[in-house]
Amino acid sequence: MLNICFVCLGNICRSPTAEGIMIQLVKDSGLTNQISIDSAGTSAYHIGEPADPRSRAAAKNHHISLPSRARQFKAGDFERFDYVVAMDQSNQKNLIRMAHSKTDREKIVLLRNFDSKSTKDSDVPDPYYGGPNGFETVFQICLAGCDGLLNAVIQNGL
Ligand code: 4NP
Repeated sequence: MLNICFVCLGNICRSPTAEGIMIQLVKDSGLTNQISIDSAGTSAYHIGEPADPRSRAAAKNHHISLPSRARQFKAGDFERFDYVVAMDQSNQKNLIRMAHSKTDREKIVLLRNFDSKSTKDSDVPDPYYGGPNGFETVFQICLAGCDGLLNAVIQNGL
């Protein structure tokens, strides 16, 4: 089993969106038994909460459900995951700080670097304090990133 964890700040908007999309893409590819998907936040702000209703509404418009409950990423999680996918450079920095080893650090990647149309090291913008359009934008950005990530993961060998 290959294990992927998407990570943002609160684990209620961006990483649950990427998680829900990836679950669907993996299912569509017939790889549910080979790839496991999770998400977490670098902060403890929203532990236990479901995804933000605005994220769920944006995903539902595309027939995607977001099953996550917010939890905080812990240093020990590096052992369980093959890819730790940060939504922005701030999350990436926090994860690097948490990593215990080179092996841990090598697992940290940025989602948008898997989107060939995106410029290097772009952030998935935080939609939390913005309007509803931001959630559709985040959905589209996550979809492009997840599509590229799944292709890369398959190419690298499951
Ligand atoms: P997320 O969005 O990191 O995409 O889940 C946020 C959710 C909550 C907060 C910030 C970002 N907050 O400050 O509470």
